Amino acid sequence: MDTIILNGSPISIVKIDFVLTEEEKKIILNLNYEKKKENASFVSQDSCLLKRKELVRIEEIMSYWVNEYKDKILQIKNKLRIVQSWSTLNNNSNHHFHAHRNSFISCSFYLENEGKNKIIFSKGRSAIEECHFLDYDIKEHNAFNSENWTFDITQGMIIVFLSNLNHESINEGKKIMMGSNYFITGKFGKHERYTYLEI
Ligand SMILES: [Fe+2]
Repeated sequence: MDTIILNGSPISIVKIDFVLTEEEKKIILNLNYEKKKENASFVSQDSCLLKRKELVRIEEIMSYWVNEYKDKILQIKNKLRIVQSWSTLNNNSNHHFHAHRNSFISCSFYLENEGKNKIIFSKGRSAIEECHFLDYDIKEHNAFNSENWTFDITQGMIIVFLSNLNHESINEGKKIMMGSNYFITGKFGKHERYTYLEI
């Protein structure tokens, strides 16, 4: 798992050998999809897609890497539960900048990919721009001097990130992506500190 820390927000990338089975692909392609705008992604209407037992293999892969991110990058003991999961289809279409509400950690798993497709994460300002908002003369872009970070998508790529991080996808090709959101769950704080909370 490689991690870029874009102005304090960790984005982790894993690349695995992955090919959809015929059954998985049939289920995903036969879902009902909608698109909000011309040239936008098709997004599945089912937002609890990974509850389907036929997709358990995909659910387990995503859950494994999200928990690795929580345990090894965020280094928190709290537990997670999946709250939403959906698939998107792109064919030379784009998905405008957005972040995921009602979620703590998000995961994108690229099940199929052909052509030049990319995802761009944005913090709005780089770390050095937050210190002084100057028009810096940058030698080489890195996670301290960049406000955006772009990843070229490959089949079998898994990206895990904090859900409040803005991102968009620009696609000059075709792809099938599975997305999932996770929220923190369990008991927090202590009664004697007036902080006890159960989520
Ligand atoms: Fe997204």
